[in-house]
Amino acid sequence: MSDTDRPAPQAGPQGDLGGTGRYTGQCCTVRDLAKTYRSPSRGLGRGRSRDAAAAGAERGATGEVRANDGIDLDVRCGEIFGLLGPNGAGKSTLVRQLTGLLRPDRGSVHILGHDIVRHPERAARLLAYLGQESTALDELTVALAAETTGRLRGLTPARARGETADVLAELGLEPIAHRPLAKLSGGQRRLACFAAALVGERPLLVLDEPTTGMDPVARRAVWSAVDRRRAERGTTVLLVTHNVIEAETVLDRVAVVDRGRVIACDTPGGLKALVDGDVRLDLVWRTEAPTDVPAVARIAEQAERSGRRWTVRTSPEQARELVTAVTTGPAFAALDDFTLATPSLEDAYLKLGGRGGGLAK
Ligand SMILES: Nc1ncnc2c1ncn2[C@@H]1O[C@H](COP(=O)(O)OP(=O)(O)OP(=O)(O)O)[C@@H](O)[C@H]1O
Ligand SMILES: [Mg+2]
Repeated sequence: MSDTDRPAPQAGPQGDLGGTGRYTGQCCTVRDLAKTYRSPSRGLGRGRSRDAAAAGAERGATGEVRANDGIDLDVRCGEIFGLLGPNGAGKSTLVRQLTGLLRPDRGSVHILGHDIVRHPERAARLLAYLGQESTALDELTVALAAETTGRLRGLTPARARGETADVLAELGLEPIAHRPLAKLSGGQRRLACFAAALVGERPLLVLDEPTTGMDPVARRAVWSAVDRRRAERGTTVLLVTHNVIEAETVLDRVAVVDRGRVIACDTPGGLKALVDGDVRLDLVWRTEAPTDVPAVARIAEQAERSGRRWTVRTSPEQARELVTAVTTGPAFAALDDFTLATPSLEDAYLKLGGRGGGLAK
């Protein structure tokens, strides 16, 4: 395969290159996708307790886990499409079936017109995949891992080196370019694996929790690299993430997955309209909350608590009363900080019934 090789453009609405050099129409179509794991004692994933991992999916009496239970999904070319959902909801199972790595029990997956269930080997030419788990490239240095990925994707040696240099510079990885992946910190390794996924461009980028373990600077570098590829090259991006608040700024549409099903699919704005009218009040107490103050006592039940922080989702009117109550008198003396904000995508997710435990705050 030459380095200019791109997947054969398909006629019609499915991933047509059109006259623009960019794919248009549908990039990825999933219908009635189902997957049940039948040997739950094996391969639950590193670093994950079985209870936590199984929390989101239906576990049958026989110990089977119905991880995907009839998923329909349409991702358009050029979109940044997010998959949200609690731990164990079935997100990674879904993307692994899109990448041809896992065979569905039922249903269809088409990527740029190619039937991936029938021809899983075609996926590697259509998409770049950053899995949730670490890679097989651990023994290589950062630069070599990226270059090798480029070579495996058909780039010439010179082109693979050139693209590697560009991507490492873009992500600020030059200082650690010659260190082996295995000797890096968790966040550095994740960023290096993300860099490798970008070399030897593919029209679809599938990223399973790309920012896990990263500091804010690295996370920002990932979101801008994703956004840049969509803007400059028309790359389609399918993104699994728990960093809902950050991802919101780059996502065009979002599907919320829960217990192996898509329970909502819309633009971030559309999902936020579900909680339109509500506001979020965060109260951080110096030590204990002053529950002897009547207004504070009244919200004690409905507030979500995380250490000294109380979060209340409520109407603007009640929020105004609360702010007045806590910024005067004895409650104010107990208050360290407060913020009043309009709803975020995370609030919409929680309203949909998603369990908050799986989402980054
Ligand atoms: N190889 C496997 N064998 C058996 N069960 C599995 C396997 N992989 C995943 N599962 C189970 O399938 C369900 C869905 O898992 P999946 O990894 O798709 O969830 P996820 O939404 O990606 O979760 P997370 O946010 O924690 O990454 C879970 O209950 C999990 O325990
Ligand atoms: Mg996962």
